[in-house]
Amino acid sequence: MQDPLFTATLLAWYDVHGRDLPWRRTKDPYAIWLSEIILQQTRIAQGLSYWERFMDRFPDYHALAAASEDEVLRLWEGLGYYSRGRNLLTAARQIEERGSFPDTLEGIRTLKGVGDYTAAAIASIAFGIPAAVVDGNVYRVLARFYGIATPVGTTAAKKEFTERAQSLLPADRPGDFNQAMMDFGAMQCTPASPACLVCPLASRCDALKTGRTNLLPVKKAPISVRDRHLRYIYLRCGGETAIRRRGPGDIWQGLWEPLVQEDRFTDFPGQRLLRSGVKHQLTHQHLTVDFYLLECKEKPVLPEGYLWIPETDLDKYGKPRLFELLIKALNA
Ligand code: ADE
Repeated sequence: MQDPLFTATLLAWYDVHGRDLPWRRTKDPYAIWLSEIILQQTRIAQGLSYWERFMDRFPDYHALAAASEDEVLRLWEGLGYYSRGRNLLTAARQIEERGSFPDTLEGIRTLKGVGDYTAAAIASIAFGIPAAVVDGNVYRVLARFYGIATPVGTTAAKKEFTERAQSLLPADRPGDFNQAMMDFGAMQCTPASPACLVCPLASRCDALKTGRTNLLPVKKAPISVRDRHLRYIYLRCGGETAIRRRGPGDIWQGLWEPLVQEDRFTDFPGQRLLRSGVKHQLTHQHLTVDFYLLECKEKPVLPEGYLWIPETDLDKYGKPRLFELLIKALNA
C-alpha cells in the first residue's frame, strides 16, 4: 500500500505551507510532549499562549514534577478537559522517577494521559520513530484521497486507517509526515470547503473524481448530549466565601466551586440574582447556570466538603470558567 508519490507530494506541500510553530523548532521531548497534550482537545490559536506560559513557568520536567496540582490547574484554567492538566503533572512525576524522558514508542505510551495518537506524535517528532498518527485530519485526508467509506469511530476504521497511514510514513521524516497530515487536514483538506482547486493531490483524489468530498469521511450517528440546569451561589460573609473542591465521577474533577444546586432549587432569604441562563457547552453536556449572591452576617453551617477562604485568595484556586464568570458578575 506504499504510495511514494502521495508521501513526496505531501512533504513538498508541508515544506512550503507547514505552520511555523515554536514546538517545531525544538527536539526537546518535554516541550513536544507538552504541546501534544495541550493540542489534544485545543486549537493551536488557543493552545499557543498556554504552551508558552507552561514552558516559561516549567521549563523542564523537573520543574513541572515539583509543582502542586493547584498550581498546574490554575495555569491550565480556561483550556477545559482538566484531566489533561492533572495527568500532565502525574506524567512529569513518572518521568522524574525514571530519570529521563522515555525514548521508545512503548515507553512514551506508558505516560499518564498519553494515548496511541499522542505517543505516535511525540515518538515521531522528538525521536524520529516511524509511528503514524491517526486523528480526524488523517481520517479525512485518507478517506477522501483513497475513497475509503468505512465509518470513522469504529474499530474497523481505526485499524484500516492506521495501516494505511503507517504504510505511507517515510522512514527518514516520520515526524514531518505526521505534522504534514495534521496541517494538510487543517488548512487544505478542510471539513467544510476543502481547497481542491489549489490541491497538489487533486489529480489522484478519489473523492474529487467522484464528487464525494462532502460525503467523505463517513461519520457515525452523533453523540447524545445531556442538558443540566445549575445554580451557583456565591456566599459572602465578612470578607470570606465558601468553596469546595470537586471530586471524581463528574465534570471538573479537582477544580473549586461555590455553593451549587442542581435540579432542586431552594431560595435563601436575601439572595440576589446576578445573572440567569448562562450557557456553557461541554462535549456531552449543555449547562445552563444562574448566578446568585448571598450575603450574610453570621457564617452558616456549610454542606459537606466546603471551607471558608478569604475572598482575596480566590485567584489561588483552579476554577471552571463558569465560576470565573460568576466572580466577574459580582464585580460588574
Ligand atoms: N495537533 C496535535 N499535534 C499537532 C502538531 N504537532 N502540529 C499541529 N497540530 C497538531
